[in-house]
Amino acid sequence: MAKKEIPIVGIDIGSHAVKICQIQKKGKSYQLLALGSAAISPGAVEDGALQNAEDVSAAIAELFKNLKIKNKRVGLSISGYSVIVKKINTEMSSEEDFAERLDEEAEQYIPFDINEVFLDFQVIKAGQDEYDRSEIMLVAAKKEVINDYLDMLRALKLMPVLVDVDGFALENIWELSSGTHSNVGLVDIGASKMSINIIADGASVLARDMTVGSDDITEEIANVLEIEYEEAEKIKLGQTLAGGDQEEIEEIFTDACTKWVMEIKKAIDMYKANNPEKPLTALVLSGGGSKVRGLKRYLATETGIKDVIAFNPFAGMKVNNKKIDPEYLATIAPEMSIAAGLAIRSAEF
Ligand SMILES: Nc1ncnc2c1ncn2[C@@H]1O[C@H](COP(=O)(O)OP(=O)(O)OP(=O)(O)O)[C@@H](O)[C@H]1O
Ligand SMILES: [Mg+2]
Repeated sequence: MAKKEIPIVGIDIGSHAVKICQIQKKGKSYQLLALGSAAISPGAVEDGALQNAEDVSAAIAELFKNLKIKNKRVGLSISGYSVIVKKINTEMSSEEDFAERLDEEAEQYIPFDINEVFLDFQVIKAGQDEYDRSEIMLVAAKKEVINDYLDMLRALKLMPVLVDVDGFALENIWELSSGTHSNVGLVDIGASKMSINIIADGASVLARDMTVGSDDITEEIANVLEIEYEEAEKIKLGQTLAGGDQEEIEEIFTDACTKWVMEIKKAIDMYKANNPEKPLTALVLSGGGSKVRGLKRYLATETGIKDVIAFNPFAGMKVNNKKIDPEYLATIAPEMSIAAGLAIRSAEF
């Protein structure tokens, strides 16, 4: 029987918000059908693991209802301490051969008990002859963490058919929507983490996660002004005026951005040292934290990279403007990148 491609709904469960995206592929073109985001309570997702399933599942149920999504097949992605991605070089006569000794191989590289992880791999470059080693990407993810997500989704009567890694989803949607840039840094700044992934000649050459993000700003505002988190979040987003504390707040923003920029520069410097002949042509920013005013200009100045752009994962896609408000779409697009990267994948049955 011929395999049929069935679209899936992308669900990105971040530490601040759940993002959902539905995209339909027709021939070679893509159409954005639905998208939305719902905040979850602080602490409901921590270090990539589900801590409060009830809260997160309520957010997902509400999004499905409001967006009138009927499709039950969903894909999610994971990140944080519970997932390890590692490139290795090994002898490999065939993929089947490697699959057979996957456990054994992974044991050498993965600092988790092999019985407690799901393992997967992808051949990046197969060796040309018996003396040529193959390059393989190993992925290990904690069963417990993934099962918590799967159980929650199944309890909602959804059918999880794909578990991806945040960074891969972002890379996929970038590849689909990117124009002419060849060597770029993808930078996702969320609420609690920042991920940098440098893509050169179509492949990821440097990836790292750091525990900084936009929540740092909220927490610092709450500390300094001695106010509640929710109030501080509103001030950060400009929804409430901060009165006479403007100077202090500006300083908090500057401090956070300085830290982020320093980390990004470190990664770029490391990349440059190893790839002097492939200068980066752009930095592509996603995630809610990347929307901090002035950040792009600051990054351009500090790194010397002129093109520091906000990622629009839907560039080139058809959008039903009657259903999706263009202004809302423009505001939320950078946060939706990972969900979009999941939604463009289809499960095969
Ligand atoms: N204009 C803005 N300026 C600063 N921060 C913003 C802005 N808009 C949104 N944010 C912040 O971005 C964060 C949400 O972004 P996003 O949805 O990408 O995070 P997340 O995926 O939930 O978090 P993580 O990936 O770290 O787990 C929140 O902290 C929110 O306050
Ligand atoms: Mg995120």
